[in-house]
Amino acid sequence: MKIVVIGGTGLIGSKLVKRLQSKGHEVLAASPNSGVNTITGEGLADALKGAQIVVDVANSPSFEDNAVMEFFQTSGKNLLAAEAAAGVQHHIALSVVGTERLQDSGYFRAKLAQEKLIKESAVPYSLVHSTQFFEFMGSIAQSGTQGQEVHISPALIQPISSEDVADAMADVVLGSPVNGTVEIAGPESGRLSDLVSVYLKQVKDTRKVVIDAKSKYFGVELDDKSLMPAAGARIGSVKFSEWVKTASPPQAH
Ligand SMILES: NC(=O)c1ccc[n+]([C@@H]2O[C@H](COP(=O)([O-])OP(=O)(O)OC[C@H]3O[C@@H](n4cnc5c(N)ncnc54)[C@H](OP(=O)(O)O)[C@@H]3O)[C@@H](O)[C@H]2O)c1
Repeated sequence: MKIVVIGGTGLIGSKLVKRLQSKGHEVLAASPNSGVNTITGEGLADALKGAQIVVDVANSPSFEDNAVMEFFQTSGKNLLAAEAAAGVQHHIALSVVGTERLQDSGYFRAKLAQEKLIKESAVPYSLVHSTQFFEFMGSIAQSGTQGQEVHISPALIQPISSEDVADAMADVVLGSPVNGTVEIAGPESGRLSDLVSVYLKQVKDTRKVVIDAKSKYFGVELDDKSLMPAAGARIGSVKFSEWVKTASPPQAH
């Protein structure tokens, strides 16, 4: 089967491509670096020729409100139109648990717009809603940084390892379209401020975490339900406490 992974060079995309290849599928890791751009349309029709399945794990280079909305709307429209023309039978996209509850954030408004395009398109689909990736902890810390302090909400969170996300995505990709949403999460919940503290300590980052219920998570004030999955979510196996021992500081770009 030919499977195109849009964003196939990213954190989740690269792990997913390996899993699908190991099961014997023809997998195209599509991204601007490999000549496929869902914003300009470059290389898209050629990439989708003969594909039965398309997975969208691309992300916007900018999280600024207007830029991220423009990214997910333009990318979604171009991709779904190209899929309809190519006769693609299953579109799978990765979004975030609680997206519909997090609408004070420009990023999550853009993810909801992406989901709406998918639901309205004629291509059968499966949406995967994941909780935050362990690997995103550094970005969360960065977003709450004020000088030498990191202001973080103590809201509950149940983050997941990127390996568990890729495993779940591979199963959904190779299953039938659910024309709905499946949720995935890590095995343990904890307070966001605690997990950020543990992460920063591990990577020898001396910034001080300040527990601040009013501090916003990418524009949203959180409560204990905001980021948490519903009962029945698929639960991964890697614990944050195990993963964090292997965490290294984010690479400087
Ligand atoms: N971070 C979290 O905790 C979290 C939680 C739940 C869901 N998600 C969702 O998971 C998805 C994947 O996230 P990730 O962290 O794996 O992303 P990532 O590592 O930032 O990778 C993004 C990918 O998108 C590609 N891309 C960027 N612009 C593109 C374009 N115009 N056309 C085609 N591809 C393009 C990039 O290609 P290049 O390498 O060529 O630039 C790269 O392969 C996102 O949609 C995000 O919303 C994230």
